[in-house]
Amino acid sequence: MSRIVAVAAVSELPVGERKLLEVDGLRIAVFNLGGQFYCIADVCSHDDGPVAEGPVTGCEIECPRHGARFDLRTGKVLSFPAITGIPSYPVRVTGDQLEVELP
Ligand code: FES
Repeated sequence: MSRIVAVAAVSELPVGERKLLEVDGLRIAVFNLGGQFYCIADVCSHDDGPVAEGPVTGCEIECPRHGARFDLRTGKVLSFPAITGIPSYPVRVTGDQLEVELP
């Protein structure tokens, strides 16, 4: 069963910003890409690296540990050494809050 979790005020996350947080032991990160909000797990599928700390280019993020790249919108893997994607979670705006739907 999924749950809705408030993760930030909309004003906390201007375009180009990110917020890393932990919800009940689950590391996640929320990004504002050009006014659209996206959330991924902050655990690289290659070797559990802190992928959300990596550099962002367009809609792609690069894991700072070994350089695997992922699509921030979907979690889909884009390059080695990772071969599988990372979870992504729906984000919605409710009033002035960002809410994420977590499993
Ligand atoms: S842990 Fe992310 S590329 Fe290796």
